[in-house]
Parts: sequence; structure tokens; C-alpha cells
Amino acid sequence: MSRYLPTELIQKKKRGQAHSRDELAFLIQGFLDGAIPDYQMPAWLMAVFFRGLSQTELLELTILMRDSGRRFDFKSRGLFTVDKHSTGGVGDKTSLLVAPLVAACGGFVPMMAGRGLGHTGGTVDKLESLIGFNSAPAPEEFARQVQDIGLAIIGQTADICPADKRLYALRDVTATIDCIELISASIMSKKLAAGVQGLCMDVKYGSGAFMRSLTDATALAEQLVAVGDRSGVRVHAVISSMNQPLGRYAGNSLEVGECLDILAGRRCIENGHDFYQDTRDLSVFLAAQMLVIAGLVESASQGLERVRSALESGAALKKFQAMCGRQGVRDWEMPKPQAHLVVTSQRRGFVQGLDTEAIGFCLVRLGAGREKQGVELDLSAGIENHFRIGDAIQEGQTLWTLHGRDRPRLESVADRLRETIAWSESPVARDALIVKVIEGH
Ligand code: URA
Repeated sequence: MSRYLPTELIQKKKRGQAHSRDELAFLIQGFLDGAIPDYQMPAWLMAVFFRGLSQTELLELTILMRDSGRRFDFKSRGLFTVDKHSTGGVGDKTSLLVAPLVAACGGFVPMMAGRGLGHTGGTVDKLESLIGFNSAPAPEEFARQVQDIGLAIIGQTADICPADKRLYALRDVTATIDCIELISASIMSKKLAAGVQGLCMDVKYGSGAFMRSLTDATALAEQLVAVGDRSGVRVHAVISSMNQPLGRYAGNSLEVGECLDILAGRRCIENGHDFYQDTRDLSVFLAAQMLVIAGLVESASQGLERVRSALESGAALKKFQAMCGRQGVRDWEMPKPQAHLVVTSQRRGFVQGLDTEAIGFCLVRLGAGREKQGVELDLSAGIENHFRIGDAIQEGQTLWTLHGRDRPRLESVADRLRETIAWSESPVARDALIVKVIEGH
């Protein structure tokens, strides 16, 4: 006879009561060993969605999830490790830049990244467009690589945080992803298991983020910082806008190309913008925060200086090349798009806003993301942005260039993309890319 009835625990959370550590352990362990079936766990998750978790429950859940699988320990190797994690976006490729920037400044970055989820892209998918890139080296090799060259980016393996892996899959199909406590436990358990001692969170808000409002994003950022404080991880949370795709490109190999260009010091000038600027500015900002977290600099402004010089000297590019070489990349080849389509505007006006989530789903339709698990991606597919929010657009002006394997697929999303634009007759203000930073202890 087990010590609790799952139904009783669901009922308890439904009524807004707090769980003991033992009850949470029963739920997680029972879920993993099959004693709590896949139809009862989502009921509990939904109760958490509506009733929340106390700070104590959240920390205990995070620790239980962390301890559900393998853990890395870099402290015993004498390294202070620092990672960056984004809550997800469209065209959000900063991990590819931040990791080599920090490594080039003397930091150690053991990055465990994800695949695309829903309308958002994933770092592992992006890196795998470099032919030969191995996102699943043996755990010992992962740790050795971080020690030797300062960075490694790998995918989440089955033995790291299996509780999160299974809970995440259930949350994805039961509308319980966008819950501040569950997101916090999910992210922090993985980071703790990966052995990071410092973490810079990029918490996105806006039309392409899981948190639409600045208020919700701030609440999530505060929660992540609080879990970090209580579990011994130094967390800074940067709140940034995801009201439009980041940078010039969205789509796996196209985003890697953008990062390689930025690392090589190139710009992308058109219509009065440098379309690489947002990607570069946010990456440099996040990397500078990571240097502060790691104690490698005394202030964010000193961090910015160090990171900019690592970019300008080519040191960060060398780190990126070293990482990719160590993880199997030989010829620097990526799948090339065979078809291209220019999408032009059918009206004039000012771009007031974008439905960035819908743009992300257009990318999924193009094959850059997965409609369901197991689908093979078209790593060459994606969109190229030719305007920013606030621009004055003329009829016939190019809005996007679409790239991919087959033209009919590109044609099928052209109208949907045009519908993502909210228009204004008069000039509109542009919002700030980086809104604020919330710092832990
Ligand atoms: N990213 C994660 O790792 N977990 C979540 O729950 C949401 C975003």
C-alpha cells in the first residue's frame, strides 16, 4: 500500500494547499516508475498551473527533478562554470555567440541546450546544420572539452533530469507549459544537473515569447533568481523583447551563417539598419553579464569592454571554430536552400507590431521546426527579414525572402506572413531590445 493516493495529492493542490517534500518526492518518483499514470500527472500539473507553488515547494521540486538523473560536477575540477539560457524565441541565436565570447574571455561554459519547441527554435537543431556536429558526446568528453577549451554545447541526454524530460513532454500536450513555477523548476533543475554555478537567464517577453507581458516575464525572472539564490547558483535575469524575430535570419543553417558573419566582424546593412545589430547587441550584453556572474570582471561596463574586444580580435570566432572542430565539424558545410521567394508588401504604412509567434509557426510550416516529434527538419529553410518594427513601408517593398527546399512550401506561407503585420498610418515608437536586469546574490 503506497503512503499517498495520487488523487488526494491532486485534490490538495487543487484546493491551493502546500505539499510536503515527501509528497512531492512521491509524485516525482511515482511518475518516473509508472505508479502515477500519464492521466493523473497532468491533472496535478494543471492544479499547479492554477494554484502555484510556494517558494519552498518550488525549491524542493527543482531539487527532486535535478536528482532524478546524472549530475555533473565542475567544482571539483576547480572550474567556475557559467551558462546562459533563453526562455525561447524566434531567430534567437545568441547561445551560438555567447558561449564562444565568454570562453574567449576566460570563462567556462558547459551549455546544455534544447531543440526547437512549438514556434521557437533550438540551439541544438541550429548547430546540427553544420555537417558532422555531434551534439551528444560522451559525458566525460563533454566535461573534458569544457575544461580544455572553455566551452561545449550539447543536447539534453536521456539520463540528465529524466523527470523534466517526461514532465515536459506531458506539459507540451496539456497546455501547462506557460506556468511560471513549472518553467522555473524545469530550467533550474537542468542547469543544476549540468553543474553550472552561474547562470544568465534571457527571459523573453512579447508576441513571440511564452510570457507575453512584461509583468509575467518579470515574475518569471524573479522566480528564477530566487530559485538560484536558494540552490547556490548565481543568477542574473535579463528581460529582453521578443516582439519581432531577432536579427536578419530565422531558420537553422541561416542563423548559423548569421553568427559566423557576426563573429567575423561583418555587418548586414540595408534600408538604414544593420540587421545583425540586435543579435550582436544582445549577445554582447548577455556575455558581459556572464563575466560579471563568473567574477571575471568587476562591472557590467568592464564586461562589455572585454566581450567587445574578444569579438573584434577574432578570439571568439577561434573559440567557436575550436568547439565545432572538437564536436565533429570538418568542412564547414551546411545544407543550402534550393528555392527562394521574395514576399513583398501589398500596402503602405508603418509597421506597428508583429505576431512573432505566428511567424514562428510559419517557420515550422517551412520545415525549419517540427510539427510533431520525429519529423525531419529542412535545415536550409527559413526567413530573411528586410524590415524592423517602426519602419515606413511602401507598396511593393520587400518584406521577407523565404528560403528552403521547395517553392510550393514557400508560397504556402507568404500570405500568412503578411497577416502577421499590424499596420499604423502614423509613425510608431520602437521598443527597447533590452529592458532590465534582475540580479541574484
Ligand atoms: N524551457 C525549459 O527548459 N523549460 C520550460 O518549461 C520552458 C522553457
